[in-house]
Amino acid sequence: MRQTALIVLAAGQGSRMKSDLPKVLHAVAHAPLLIHAWRSGERLAPARTVIVAGHGGDAVESAARAHDPGVAVVRQTEQLGTAHAVAQARAALDGFAGDAFVLYGDTPFIAPETLEKMRAAREDGADVVVLGFEAAEPGRYGRLVAEGDRLERIVEAKDATPAELAITLCNSGVVAADAETLFDLIEQVGNDNAAGEYYLTDIVALARAGRMSARVVVCAEAETMGVNTRMDLAAAEAAFQAGKRAEAMANGATLTAPETVFFAHDTMLGRDVVVEPHVVFGPGVTVESGATLRAFSHLEGCHVSEGCTIGPYARLRPGAELDRGVRVGNFVEVKAAQVAEGAKLNHLSYIGDARVGARANIGAGTITCNYDGVFKHRTDIGADAFIGSNSALVAPVRVGAGAMTGSGSVVTQDVPDGALALGRSKQVNKDGFATRLMAKLRAAKARKTN
Ligand code: UD1
Ligand code: CA
Repeated sequence: MRQTALIVLAAGQGSRMKSDLPKVLHAVAHAPLLIHAWRSGERLAPARTVIVAGHGGDAVESAARAHDPGVAVVRQTEQLGTAHAVAQARAALDGFAGDAFVLYGDTPFIAPETLEKMRAAREDGADVVVLGFEAAEPGRYGRLVAEGDRLERIVEAKDATPAELAITLCNSGVVAADAETLFDLIEQVGNDNAAGEYYLTDIVALARAGRMSARVVVCAEAETMGVNTRMDLAAAEAAFQAGKRAEAMANGATLTAPETVFFAHDTMLGRDVVVEPHVVFGPGVTVESGATLRAFSHLEGCHVSEGCTIGPYARLRPGAELDRGVRVGNFVEVKAAQVAEGAKLNHLSYIGDARVGARANIGAGTITCNYDGVFKHRTDIGADAFIGSNSALVAPVRVGAGAMTGSGSVVTQDVPDGALALGRSKQVNKDGFATRLMAKLRAAKARKTN
């Protein structure tokens, strides 16, 4: 099979977003639009990828490198049109032989299967392959002048005649062609049009004039959804969430009220996971089989093993690693902590920078005091330890295996295995004191009101 190169256009400002952030870095499900677009292209296993950055180029470049440190990022300093943008990738693809696919960084949902169809059309002999769709409202889209799947030319709405504007088969922007052919065609593109821009779309007529063939592959309009405004961004988020919910259920998770659950782009749920209403996932969450995520819990950067029960109202933050059968109850926050099998953190706790041993029981209101204002310190709780309610564990500190802490203790020293730590003042009872005090106060009040 021929090798593939991706060219992802990401130079536009996206002025209608009214944002200081370049448009392609706005996120859907916690991943930039650019990364969504790029990922579908990655399913073609490209040998080379070039990102064309422009507006906010440094930020775009670092987001691209965070995804793939080896990616080529080129700059289009002036946005002179889509053909001009693609031309900027030429030097970066020097020595590459194979097909180039042009994707838009602001069009996140092109299905990998659709790109495969385009590749099949190339293998079937089409010189230029354009991805089209039947538009419900063709509006500003470029119109595909075609007979069947044989494409003659693309006309931009601004330059179209009324008859051409009546065409509903529109241009998604995604193009595939042999890389050298593509760049040669682009060299011939001029800017004598209504926008004064170098239109990538002109390569179709140029190819036809050069006796090459051009073919249209059609996809669902939903795939070509581009983001131009904040409303579009919200619509893209909604579309992504709907897809991800359906996928989670298709893979064997139960979602009691799917429309209230919000996933991140990379959320992984095992079989028979139950997700109750209003659970929200940040990035980097894996939940294994048979775990239950109860209502109103928030999970981010964490790993939940088989059979755990989380929530309701629990918060798992980055680095929370829960082994099998762990229980995390209401108003409990866990951060950067390894919690071993069967441990219970049931109520009102903060466990951060810690290890909790197997079967340990963390009483209500227990806090690991992990931060001294400058440094973070670790708390180590042994297996089968019993931490009394409202204990403050002042890190660095270790509570031994099978040890206990008395309720309300402030634990500042290590507790040996099997010991009881009492770090609170001793209780004193004064017989009859409360009765005498109340009588005195009531008498005082009676004198005042008489
Ligand atoms: C383009 C197509 C149009 C198609 C539509 C689909 C052309 C001439 N027109 O129009 O046929 O129906 O997309 O959405 O190609 N970009 C750059 N540098 C530039 C110009 C654009 O990187 O100089 C990037 C933009 O950031 C964007 C993409 O290319 O991601 C498309 O550009 P945009 O200006 O939105 O093209 P449209 O006018 O929408
Ligand atoms: Ca656009």
